Amino acid sequence: MKAVITSTAKYLPDSVLNNHDLEQILDTNDEWIRTRTGIRERRILKDPEKATSFMCSEVARKLIEKRGITADDIDLIIVATMSPDMIFPSTACLVQKNISASNAWAFDLSGACSGFIYALHTGAQFIAAGTHKKVLVIGGEKMSAVMDYTDRTTCVLFGDGAAGVLIEPGTDEEHGVLDARLYSDGKGCDNLCMPGGGSLHPTSHETVDQKLHYLQQDGRQVFKSAVVAMADVALEIMTRNNLSAKDIDFLIPHQANHRIIQATAERMGIGLEHVAVNIDRYGNTSAATIPICIAELDEAGKLHRGSSLILVSFGAGYTWGGIYLTWV
Ligand code: ACO
Repeated sequence: MKAVITSTAKYLPDSVLNNHDLEQILDTNDEWIRTRTGIRERRILKDPEKATSFMCSEVARKLIEKRGITADDIDLIIVATMSPDMIFPSTACLVQKNISASNAWAFDLSGACSGFIYALHTGAQFIAAGTHKKVLVIGGEKMSAVMDYTDRTTCVLFGDGAAGVLIEPGTDEEHGVLDARLYSDGKGCDNLCMPGGGSLHPTSHETVDQKLHYLQQDGRQVFKSAVVAMADVALEIMTRNNLSAKDIDFLIPHQANHRIIQATAERMGIGLEHVAVNIDRYGNTSAATIPICIAELDEAGKLHRGSSLILVSFGAGYTWGGIYLTWV
């Protein structure tokens, strides 16, 4: 049984932080950020009382409402995030509480920027097994909470947001999540991480003084690995499914850097008109980038029965992967 996407939704905070705002607090400039990354602005969840679970709960409510079901119909909630409200309990449990999904079980999935792809594949397995009928798969991040706004090499890149899909069993074998290839390479762990606050470096005055509670990245190393891995997995998915560029309606790549997106599309032979891009407006929202793109395409009426999509991502871990699916 294939898992099909039957509802999409997104939540972006209203507050906009653009490149010119960052010029006021950092030694950076709009031109550098735009030409090196493609980002013009990003959204920030400013309310200190609200965190990732708030945005994911908004998404969950919209997914349920759009599908015309109730929260009690949901069997499972998977939240992909690297900026959970707390290390425990899981953000997914907070979402379950917020929407009163009393029949669901819930867990977080830690896959960094590949979190949504990992979570969609995981959710699809529960549908394929026939044990679950309605699974919410949500990616959400309050990246502003783990940013050092004095570090121009990282804070210009990331933004806040959440989005997700409802998956259910399809009625045929031709539509839905048709293929997935997922990878990890822990050797990349030091190049992109948040060292503080876990069991290795529990929070202390020292860890805070050393800024270990912020995301740290060797951008050049990550870039080199991402550009190869995303294109390789996209081509692998195409080959495995006998797809040529003309068979693909939309490439939906993780939005980390416009240059990585372009390089992936070029290696696949896909024109940019078939590539979902919103990095200019939201920056890198980590696990949320791909479902935000899906929700925007859906809202714009661009997805029709049979539309074929390839989702590809790369993130901390390293983690990466691709999914091939067709729309219902
Ligand atoms: N404004 C102005 N100058 C800057 C800025 C800035 N915001 N940031 C860096 N610079 C400077 C650097 O200091 C450097 O100056 P120097 O040559 O005098 O030392 C120069 O610009 C070039 O720096 P690079 O790091 O080489 O710039 P690069 O072209 O590699 O772009 C970037 C950096 C955007 C971070 C890029 O490497 C990138 O996108 N990396 C991949 C990110 C990614 O894919 N992450 C994975 C997903 S994220 C996740 O999983 C959480």
